[in-house]
Amino acid sequence: MSVAAAAAGRSAELVFYVNGRKIVEKNADPEQMLLSYLRKRIVSVRLTGTKYSCGGGGCGACTVMISTYEPLSKKILHFSANACLLPICSLHGAAVTTVEGVGNTKTRIHPVQERLAKCHGSQCGFCTPGMVMSMYTLLRNHLEPSMEQITAALAGNLCRCTGYRPILDGCKTFCKESFCCQKKENGNCCLEEKDSSICTKLFSADDFQPLDPTQEFIFPPELMRMAESLPKRTLVFHGERTTWISPTSLEELLELKAKYPKAPLVVGNTSVGPEVKYKGVFHPVIISPVRILDLNVVTYMDDGLTLGAACSLALVKDILTNAVSDLAQEKAKIFQALLYQLKSLGGQQIRNVASLGGNIISRKSTSDLNPVLAAGNCLLNLASKDQRRQIPVSDIFAGGVSNNTLKAEEVLVSVYIPHSRRGQFVSAFRQAQRRENCLPIVNAGMRVLFAEGTDLILDFSIFYGGIGSTTVCAKQTCQALIRRHWNEQMLDEACRMVLKEVSLPGSAPGGKVEYRRTLIVSFLFKFYLEVLQSLKRMDLHQWPEIPEKYGSVLQEFSTKMPQSIQIYQGVDSGQVPHNPVGRPIMHQAGFEHATGEAVYCDDMRVVDEELFLAVVTSSRAHAKIVSINTLEALAVPGVFDVITAQDVPATNEFYYASDPEIIFAKEKVICVGQIVCAVVADSDVHAKQAAAKVKIEYEALEPVILTVEDAIQHNSFFEPQRKLEHGNVDEAFKTVDQILEEELHIGGQEHFYMETQSVLVVPKGEAKEMDVYVSSQHPALIQEMVASSLGAPANRIMCHVKRVGGAFGGKLLKTGLLASVAAVAANKTGRAVRFILSRGEDMLITGGRHPLVAKYKVGFMNSGRILAVDVKYYINGGCSPDESVLVTEVALLRIDNAYKIPNLRCWSCACKTNLPSNTAFRGFGFPQSALVTESWTTSVAGKTGLSPEKVREINMYKEIEQTPYKQKLDPQNLIRCWNECMVKSAYYRRLKAVEEFNRQNYWKKKGIAIIPMKFPFGFDSRYLSQAAALVHIYTDGSVLLTHGGIEMGQGIHIKMIQVASRELNIPMSSIHVCETNTTTVPNACASVGSAGTDVNGMAVKDACQTLLKRLQPIISKNPKGTWNDWVKEAFKQSISLSATGYFRGYDGNMDWEKGEGQPFTYFVYGAACSEVAIDCLTGDHKNLRTDIVMDIGCSINPAVDIGQIEGAFVQGIGLYTMEELNYSPKGALYTRGPDHYKIPAVCDIPEQFSVSLLSPSQNPHAIYGSKGVGEAGLFLGCSVFFALRDAVASARKERGLPGPFALNSPLTPERIRMACADDFTQMIVKDQPDSFSPWAISI
Ligand SMILES: Cc1cc2nc3c(=O)[nH]c(=O)nc-3n(C[C@H](O)[C@H](O)[C@H](O)COP(=O)(O)OP(=O)(O)OC[C@H]3O[C@@H](n4cnc5c(N)ncnc54)[C@H](O)[C@@H]3O)c2cc1C
Ligand code: FES
Ligand code: FES
Repeated sequence: MSVAAAAAGRSAELVFYVNGRKIVEKNADPEQMLLSYLRKRIVSVRLTGTKYSCGGGGCGACTVMISTYEPLSKKILHFSANACLLPICSLHGAAVTTVEGVGNTKTRIHPVQERLAKCHGSQCGFCTPGMVMSMYTLLRNHLEPSMEQITAALAGNLCRCTGYRPILDGCKTFCKESFCCQKKENGNCCLEEKDSSICTKLFSADDFQPLDPTQEFIFPPELMRMAESLPKRTLVFHGERTTWISPTSLEELLELKAKYPKAPLVVGNTSVGPEVKYKGVFHPVIISPVRILDLNVVTYMDDGLTLGAACSLALVKDILTNAVSDLAQEKAKIFQALLYQLKSLGGQQIRNVASLGGNIISRKSTSDLNPVLAAGNCLLNLASKDQRRQIPVSDIFAGGVSNNTLKAEEVLVSVYIPHSRRGQFVSAFRQAQRRENCLPIVNAGMRVLFAEGTDLILDFSIFYGGIGSTTVCAKQTCQALIRRHWNEQMLDEACRMVLKEVSLPGSAPGGKVEYRRTLIVSFLFKFYLEVLQSLKRMDLHQWPEIPEKYGSVLQEFSTKMPQSIQIYQGVDSGQVPHNPVGRPIMHQAGFEHATGEAVYCDDMRVVDEELFLAVVTSSRAHAKIVSINTLEALAVPGVFDVITAQDVPATNEFYYASDPEIIFAKEKVICVGQIVCAVVADSDVHAKQAAAKVKIEYEALEPVILTVEDAIQHNSFFEPQRKLEHGNVDEAFKTVDQILEEELHIGGQEHFYMETQSVLVVPKGEAKEMDVYVSSQHPALIQEMVASSLGAPANRIMCHVKRVGGAFGGKLLKTGLLASVAAVAANKTGRAVRFILSRGEDMLITGGRHPLVAKYKVGFMNSGRILAVDVKYYINGGCSPDESVLVTEVALLRIDNAYKIPNLRCWSCACKTNLPSNTAFRGFGFPQSALVTESWTTSVAGKTGLSPEKVREINMYKEIEQTPYKQKLDPQNLIRCWNECMVKSAYYRRLKAVEEFNRQNYWKKKGIAIIPMKFPFGFDSRYLSQAAALVHIYTDGSVLLTHGGIEMGQGIHIKMIQVASRELNIPMSSIHVCETNTTTVPNACASVGSAGTDVNGMAVKDACQTLLKRLQPIISKNPKGTWNDWVKEAFKQSISLSATGYFRGYDGNMDWEKGEGQPFTYFVYGAACSEVAIDCLTGDHKNLRTDIVMDIGCSINPAVDIGQIEGAFVQGIGLYTMEELNYSPKGALYTRGPDHYKIPAVCDIPEQFSVSLLSPSQNPHAIYGSKGVGEAGLFLGCSVFFALRDAVASARKERGLPGPFALNSPLTPERIRMACADDFTQMIVKDQPDSFSPWAISI
């Protein structure tokens, strides 16, 4: 039978295994990815442990292990892969292991799961199954992995909660290597504590199960037989719209390609998959070439290596690594350059599936391999039905992406990579927003060949990525340099020529134009030095010495397994062992997180006749809606209805302030991303397909206000604006020695909770009753909004939250609007409605942290004493008020941070713009406001010539004083934190070492900064911190505890169990928390503001004490009885075994008219010292060390609290150094997923990371003397910002630029590089601002 006939024939059966169970799929759909298949399609066992978080291969939440049998080598291969990009059709003959297959709490939990949980590696738990699978796969391949293998295995897994340290701690327990640096003379870790009275262990490794490989699944023998059986036949799977064809020979493949020239060859689907998902590309036919031997060849030759195009990048990496170790160095230079790129190309999961051929043929501008392959004169072996030919890689870029060198019917069979030869030098370069698992901003491959024994250039190749639409070649430059000598004059000319040849217009997509131009020449300079250094090594006398100072540019930053230590005060020796308060106890659902058994909103089983909802959002920032045409959408199969504002029975607009929060846009839209209508259908696929077909006609409205400057110009603000004045600012300015005036821009931040916004609404069918299952921090608000949108009393809406996969302030009001959308749809259709936002929709619609522009004037004495500050804050609130005004208030109230400012005038307002509305985010205005404060403090240091830490000390609160709003504070613990941090970080010793390093290195600089913090805790109204709990004791003695707090990773449930255990004097194992809902605890306040444990703890304590009081007579009568005896007796005596507990909340007030009040209950103090190194040529940086000291009173659970501090700190690193949102000049958000928006990954945490809790001082205001700690640590991330600033300042000083300079946040590689101004930044063209339309705007 011909291939064509086979392709037209019946669908084959797809056979693969999942967790040891055989799956035979008779109707395999090529459009079906493994993730949704596991979660929704596998009949009878829905495997929801594998999570959706981004859908594009960028986060690792969906990691599974794939095992295949290799019949030739008779080996079983195990590799991790992202299920969200794996078509099920690619799995024929493979075995899939998901987190459920690794272990479970019912039979046996696997050591990886156990250790991750017990080492506190899960907080919200949403990333945990993915982490488990990455680590599990590593262990299947390496029983005792090295530290380096662990960090590489986890590079593709993101966690937004933990800051990675505890995850790594769990993984490290499988290593043989020692965890500690052993740098101290006695062989101990340099971070280790001398004082033996304090604790440094958060878990005990003694009770870990050993790793026993005999316990793992065996590879299904049937799959081995299948792999070995011959002959192979072409496999065809016909789906609803797409046919998948998997031929077995090259001839068949070429025949198919001739028949379907437009059909893509899908190997890893990491390029085709995202295009289908995000760009709506559709392929009726897909060809899978993976079973063809010719495309999997690995041939070693005398002069090089031929690699099949279908080889995975992981395999290529392994082969090259081996080849490099076998070959003479001079032969392996191209291999080494490729390895350099492969080290940080994607995450492990991507490299395991992505193919060499796919990377080359996609011809993406961001390909890291193509510039090196092209510069290295590598060759492509191409084949079509009629022709075989070999072409240089460089040919496929000449003429740009539209060049037709490659014929549509042609297939890349293999790639020839030659050995380098004597006199030839090859290098690769890349710079990205994040060092690992991040597409490059610019990359390059360069090669030079010299005449034997000379530095006379015979051949030169330079290729860049990230500049044009595909890889670009600096051909003319290279030609012009032939026969030139390798010297500075050549370099100078090369730079000028290359900038002319490889030009980048001001409006180039991707922005960062001046930076990218600078990288073009910076890389060239690096190459120049690298080659010079190699020449020097080859012949010591002939070549000029590279000054030692410049040599540092050639050392790359690498990711090392962090050394970390956590220090806390143990419990009193007198505390009874079963009193769990103060002990580091694992998260209540730690094991459930690690086994994937923890149920999140979208893991709930499908309800009968459930519909899926997809929204249609505005593509305009400000426009009138002329018409909505739903005809085409309604014609999509499975579509049930389209829901618009007209379908809202009661409230469509909520007035919590002067402007409304809107469910559906009605007559006009006010931002890109506003929900206009929604489609409900029988599946998510159909709903999304239909939503894309709704046509909305708009008429432009003016003005379109996007930026703070636009808002100022149009006087567009949310009211009220706030002002705080203290002392006599104008008078003080007259007396000061110096005045500085500056402006600081702080970018916004996306919450990037790993679980996107999710809601499932189930109408009960009578009396308007509805169950709302939602991922929210504030069920009472969801209940209120859903009820008002439906016109139903609140007592009909039961809102349930079992757990939330991260929230950080982002699941409050916005979730209320989204839940209302679903509820309106459920109300109209009478059916259950599930509404799960995709990552892209979530980022587009729900807003984030407010960007802030600060304009300030500071008066100070030459002694460093700041006397007067006059500040204006503008935050970009977006199109609706949400909590923007409150954020401005908090920003003002926290403006002083740790300093006494005798004369202060500050004013703040929230700008009303046509952007998605911004909302609460961990720290609530403090991280922005205090960064401004620390910036001016740093500037004062610059102006006075004092060191920043001196200026900080001079101005710090020192004794019992008053804040600018006249609240009393005792800064004793602030000073203790500061002093302890100074000592623990060995600040002055390291400052000296940094200075010395900087003297010796020109292109690499180090920086160090120590930052104090006073984080105010509290609410300015008592009712906002009231809390309630409900405790039931059942007759078997077990206790069901319910409280108003939401478990979103912060460990509130375990803390509440600790409280109840102590109060009732029963083991924690007798107490369970099931969920938070509005039926058991009504009107609960939001879990926000670090207050969850404080207030709910009080309520739980109250309820437990009530119960205990009731039991007391029985206990007194039978003191030797057991808990169960007493409970049974109480039941017999008709004593109620259920009690509510209540906490009225903290007193708080603020009179904005007078500028006075007691808005806060207490202060959390802390200090952090961070040290970094920067690469002045590229803007890259490395976090070397951070020491944090925090005063959190008496910790209820040090493991949880330290986890909060570290997690928040790393989120702060993200805010201040890497997370960058980009908006188009028309107000559309570009950064809608982890591919463009970079949150910190494993590579970003400091190499040395220590957190110490200040020896306890009782906090009289909170439960058991503790303090709320959820938010405070985030601000300390700015110690990295200021350390970077310090390093930049050092570079600038050396380059003759000692004066003040502005550095906005986030301090990205772009900003670092451009601030380290030098000859290269001078060399590039700077476009006049009005001469082009920029790709992105600064909002
Ligand atoms: C999260 C993520 C991170 C990434 N990070 C990086 C990075 O840092 N650096 C980088 O360089 N890349 C990166 N990539 C891109 C990735 O390397 C490429 O997508 C991948 O190599 C493509 O291989 P594939 O097998 O998955 O291609 P597929 O998606 O399967 O196919 C890609 C295209 O290549 C064509 N093709 C494939 N094989 C052949 C062949 N033999 N003959 C002819 N045509 C063929 C197909 O027709 C198709 O058009 C990243 C991708 C993702 C999803
Ligand atoms: S969901 Fe698959 S990588 Fe993010
Ligand atoms: S625990 Fe990792 S994302 Fe929440």
